[in-house]
Amino acid sequence: MTRTFPPGFLWGAATAAYQIEGATAADGRGPSIWDTFSHTPGKVSGGDTGDVAADHYRGFREDVALMAELGLPAYRFSVSWPRVQPGGRGPANPRGLDHYDRLVDALLEHGIRPVLTLYHWDLPQELEDAGGWGARDTAARFAEYAVLVADRLGGRVPLWTTLNEPWCSAFLGYAAGVHAPGRTDPALALRAAHHLLLAHGLGTAALRAALPAGTQVSITLNLHAVEPASDTPAAADAVRRIDGLGNRLFLDPLLRGRYPADLLADTDEITDWGFVRSGDEPAIAAPIDVLGVNYYAPTLVDGGGTGPDGPSPWPGCADVRFVESTGPATAMGWPIDAGGLRALVHRVHTEYPGIPLMITENGAAFDDLVNSDGAVRDPERIAYLREHLAAVHDAIEAGVDLRGYFVWSLLDNFEWAYGYSKRFGIVHVDYATQRRVWKDSAHWYREVIRANGLKQ
Ligand code: FCB
Repeated sequence: MTRTFPPGFLWGAATAAYQIEGATAADGRGPSIWDTFSHTPGKVSGGDTGDVAADHYRGFREDVALMAELGLPAYRFSVSWPRVQPGGRGPANPRGLDHYDRLVDALLEHGIRPVLTLYHWDLPQELEDAGGWGARDTAARFAEYAVLVADRLGGRVPLWTTLNEPWCSAFLGYAAGVHAPGRTDPALALRAAHHLLLAHGLGTAALRAALPAGTQVSITLNLHAVEPASDTPAAADAVRRIDGLGNRLFLDPLLRGRYPADLLADTDEITDWGFVRSGDEPAIAAPIDVLGVNYYAPTLVDGGGTGPDGPSPWPGCADVRFVESTGPATAMGWPIDAGGLRALVHRVHTEYPGIPLMITENGAAFDDLVNSDGAVRDPERIAYLREHLAAVHDAIEAGVDLRGYFVWSLLDNFEWAYGYSKRFGIVHVDYATQRRVWKDSAHWYREVIRANGLKQ
């Protein structure tokens, strides 16, 4: 059976600035919260930092040539805010913008469509020192930064994404403390979530004013495919609560213009939500053209939780039990289940109709090795990608308006708190030499793109 995707379906690969660029002190770049966090002992596995990463800032031309060889129609990358505004405010640092100017030109020269994310977690440290995402002002600063980038790159970048995965910024960064800035304050995390959403809304309005008509604006969410582990009312309530914090906290204000009432009630002992001012919800609901969805694994929950051992990314959910699934898993320990992706996009399509979707990240880490013959055999990754692409195809057949798919990731890179210990790339990176070696999955993906479909 051959699965052919619709004409114009957008194939791509994704990366993020801090994970691949390195050159953290080059051309006037200021420090970000991830520089501070990764340089704090004990925060990142192996003490790894993004100082050098995949050295893409210097080697971007070779990487773009590699993308061209792969036949990639689109490339999703992020702009480093502290390169553009070293302290997060004030005029642009032209040398920082120059890099993205050259990158976009190189992509266009090879016929690769640039898909630009403005914020993939690298907040300028000076803004964190002034309160970070806990401060309302950060949302206004983000909109100003967005305009600086739009003024330089507008007209050449057809699709802009404001934020990548605000759930992670808010709850891994400010509640669980496992991501920068490493805070563990549940009330602050909810406040941060609101200010991130507000930043998206203000940023979207600012982008619309600064960009040529017809430019698309989006946000990318890591939506959770939450499933009950048992057929009990407690499990159903656990699903409702995790869905509330993981999905509806973002989807509802973005697409319906208001926060979900049950979520506000569930969290009223943590915060009174007084940080939501009149006019904020309509601002957050500024129309978008596409919703980016990142999906890796489903989340299985039940009642009967006794609270986490340490700070949790799920404020007020101590009684929710996260159930480990017993099936196959990736090197992250994440269960492999493409059914979650199928269910998730279906659900968004039915409950939030009218918004085109794009899978902006999907992929898997495995412990890849370069063989003595120079090959990297990664059949598990190919199987993972194949299953998830089949799920995307099923969803399209069932009527879901799904416009594209970006594999995470083009290159092995700095996997946040896991450092370089986890490899998500379809291209292997030897960090000692910066040599790139195509994994089998890269060869496979090139054929998928070429055929615009999957051969079974
Ligand atoms: C996502 C992030 C991305 C990468 C993948 C594995 O949450 O957006 O940067 O780390 O997970």
